[in-house]
Amino acid sequence: MCGIVGAIADRDVVPVLIEGLKRLEYRGYDSAGIAVVDAGRVRRVRRTGRVSEMEAAAGAEGFSAQLGVGHTRWATHGGVTELNAHPHVSHGVALVHNGIIENHEQQRARLEALGYVFESQTDTEVIAHLIDLHMKDAGDLLQALQRAVAELEGAYALAVVSHAEPRRIVCARMGCPLLIGLGEGENFVASDVSAIIQATRRVIFLEEGDTAEVTRAGVRIFDQRGARAEREEHLSDVSLASLELGPYRHFMQKEIHEQPRAIGDTIEAVMDEGAFGAALFGAGAEQVLEEVESVQILACGTSYYAGSVARYWIEAIAGLPCSVEIASEYRYRAAVANPKQLVVTISQSGETLDTMEALKYAKALGQERTLSICNVPESAIPRASRLVYYTRAGAEIGVASTKAFTTQLVALFTLAATLAKLRGRLTAAQESEYLDALRHLPGSVQHALNLEPQIVAWADRFAPKHNALFLGRGVHYPIALEGALKLKEISYIHAEAYPAGELKHGPLALVDADMPVVVIAPNDSLLEKVKSNMQEVRARGGELFVFTDQDSNFGESEGVHVIRTPRHVGVLSPIVHTIPVQLLAYHTALARGTDVDKPRNLAKSVTVE
Ligand code: M6R
Repeated sequence: MCGIVGAIADRDVVPVLIEGLKRLEYRGYDSAGIAVVDAGRVRRVRRTGRVSEMEAAAGAEGFSAQLGVGHTRWATHGGVTELNAHPHVSHGVALVHNGIIENHEQQRARLEALGYVFESQTDTEVIAHLIDLHMKDAGDLLQALQRAVAELEGAYALAVVSHAEPRRIVCARMGCPLLIGLGEGENFVASDVSAIIQATRRVIFLEEGDTAEVTRAGVRIFDQRGARAEREEHLSDVSLASLELGPYRHFMQKEIHEQPRAIGDTIEAVMDEGAFGAALFGAGAEQVLEEVESVQILACGTSYYAGSVARYWIEAIAGLPCSVEIASEYRYRAAVANPKQLVVTISQSGETLDTMEALKYAKALGQERTLSICNVPESAIPRASRLVYYTRAGAEIGVASTKAFTTQLVALFTLAATLAKLRGRLTAAQESEYLDALRHLPGSVQHALNLEPQIVAWADRFAPKHNALFLGRGVHYPIALEGALKLKEISYIHAEAYPAGELKHGPLALVDADMPVVVIAPNDSLLEKVKSNMQEVRARGGELFVFTDQDSNFGESEGVHVIRTPRHVGVLSPIVHTIPVQLLAYHTALARGTDVDKPRNLAKSVTVE
């Protein structure tokens, strides 16, 4: 969703702002803009559409300055128009904002009564006017910002410049991530480290309620009470290569193919230990994980499907009751709390607002045993959790999540095995069998990737379709759900997933010769059941596209197309069977000519409700 970048230097910062905004494009946006302070005045350029259009306009108008802020906006309050695009300006104060101000209507009415004229429909413009109002009595941009944010309700990351103070950027954070990048004689502000990685890797993450002043010479941070605060400096390990496409056509394609490496990196800590153990989940994990009576998983979208796979593992391997709930539902439900319940949040970005709020709610109910499985170090959700397991997928740029999902599964399997071990339910023989399965997983995933040419042929048959059904059973049912989500997200083909046994209870009515039915049918204990369900489809003229394993005892026949992974990999089979459904979605979207990495209406990080 929205992205922020800001820079102060003794060189022209416009190229830094533009490059930063381009690196933020993956998050999803519909307009972009920059504001710079140049020769004592604020200059601003905004455009709907791509950053490159705004860049061309800035170039045409000769923008150049040593101080400025930029923004990519994903519309929430007010449509996609130039007037609603950030930065918003009030009498020489220019600001960019991520988040949502909940009391913007009251503030707007108050400011209008004081004579302020609004040009946009956004909640953000309120903040620009409020800072300008406080500038009148504070006479200092940082103090004006601190007074303004004290009057705001909601979530914000803010970066502000003023024509009156051309030597600093001031910023504030509450509920949305914001970091400061430290350079040599130049400093930066960003919502996401990728926006400034070309300039510096040294970063400071602001904490909830912080405000800060960023000059060329340094940074001063203040906590929510206004007292000076020290925040730790980190060296970001986001690599430039992970932000670049290399030889691939799309980031999604690159990220699908990176999975053997991403999984290998994610299991490294387990392999180094040569055992499952609480220490893998951080300091003090043993205390948190022992005596856990149940597990509650909270997540959204693809991360929710990872949790849905984990439920099967946690119940079967660790013998613990496990429920999985969509975070946006849990947070508004009168849930029954248990202080001995382990609350697991799963999030690629670590910033999904619904997941964050569900976590806060779970904690407010007295559940302090919290674990975050996350791909972005130091992001909001792991920081709010007692324990963390970082997946090491590397930056995921494609909106459709791929390598984040399979690495989440690896982390969740590790959790299930660890909980089992802590509860005395994992024999030494089982532990070494599971470790062996993990060790061989990158290779098995690579074999599944090698099926790509066969899947391309199927994609051509899917491309003209309007609907598709995905079926799976047991631990592979969530993989059917994930396959359907991938297909609808990037190809815009309507796709639904069902547990195969549920077909006859309704969805079978949809099946005809025009309805392709994808079946995840590995060679496990449910295969015979799935085969019966496939018969139900064939008997109604439905065309079956079946992903199975080499050793399954059935073959192709009329209306039944089969692609086989080399062999059934046992308990980790859902991870291997994810690869073909990702490739099917990718190649179908390619055949339909959609914008694979930036599907319409979607954003990479969903930081609003
Ligand atoms: O960053 P998160 O894992 O918390 O994001 C959750 C969902 O928004 C995300 O998985 C979404 O469903 C993806 N677009 C799926 O491909």
